[in-house]
Amino acid sequence: METLTGTDISKAVELLQHGNLVAIPTETVYGLAGNALDEQVVMQIFKTKNRPEFNPLIVHIASVNHVEKYVESVPDEAFRLMEKFWPGPLTLLLKKKSIIPDITTSGLDTVAIRVPNHLMTLSLLNELDFPLAAPSANPFGYISPTSAQHVLDQLNGKIAYILNGGACNVGIESTIAGFEDGQLIIYRLGGTTISEIESVAGVSAIRIPSSSDLRAPGMLKSHYAPSVPLYFGEIEELIRVHDNDSIAVLCFTGENLPKLPENSVVVKLSPEGNLEVAARNLFAALRHLDRLNIKCILAEPFPVEGLGKAINDRLLRASVRE
Ligand code: TXA
Ligand code: MG
Repeated sequence: METLTGTDISKAVELLQHGNLVAIPTETVYGLAGNALDEQVVMQIFKTKNRPEFNPLIVHIASVNHVEKYVESVPDEAFRLMEKFWPGPLTLLLKKKSIIPDITTSGLDTVAIRVPNHLMTLSLLNELDFPLAAPSANPFGYISPTSAQHVLDQLNGKIAYILNGGACNVGIESTIAGFEDGQLIIYRLGGTTISEIESVAGVSAIRIPSSSDLRAPGMLKSHYAPSVPLYFGEIEELIRVHDNDSIAVLCFTGENLPKLPENSVVVKLSPEGNLEVAARNLFAALRHLDRLNIKCILAEPFPVEGLGKAINDRLLRASVRE
């Protein structure tokens, strides 16, 4: 199959209506989209990504007005979150209606649902009479794509069309939140910060730490990983250990770096110290470093505030750990 890239929304509509997969832009990362209500199509998404079927998909809808077609009920707090953050990088887990096939949610009785904040994909969704299941458009376990080119690099020949909506503005995946027994739970850190969510929900959140619980395999131990080994931690210490290798350093502003071995590569995600810019650049930087002829990537911890927490989470999961 030849994979075309373009900005033709009608073409994407037609392909999706005929049961094909299309890569779509969102504000977070590109998604590998198909009809969320069609079991065959959803099966095809799992296959194309090499994704285990126990790892459920996020369902994308055009606006909050559509949510009740797919979920049993919306708690008041969840409704406030939707009104405030949709369209945007927040996914909510809600009790699903039976119109959502079990395969889409990997047999769970909740569906992960969100309204993406990207004009092209919103017009696409508005022209379809079904929602789009879309995991990040990368092979399972690898770094999520934040440009059409990233998708093409890995899925060329496997899908018919990539809708090119430019570089993703947020650059890391959506935050996943839900309610269990009235408690606000954060399952995955992402583009909406916990403090923003807490202030709108009016309650404090419980963060589910990394675990073997597969409720959100975005929490799987190794994920988002480049092929070159990445070490995450105190940079001076890491440099001491890897002094003799050809290394790349992935850092925030580049200030306060210790003296580096000659020929080291340095990537500063935001010299001006802006965490939103750093998040936007993170995955493209990892992909870039993964193509260089280096022994390892050393990444420093980001400030534990705002998007810095989600950036640290991704770096930890991308890293080599014993
Ligand atoms: O920003 C995003 O969320 C992107 C864009 C394309 O929307 N999508 C994305 O999808 O990151 P994916 O499949 O790479 O990650 C979805 C995460 C997985 O960790 C999955 O386990 C979790 O959501 N998830 C989906 N449905 C769930 C459910 N019913 N209960 C718990 N976790 C769920
Ligand atoms: Mg993913």
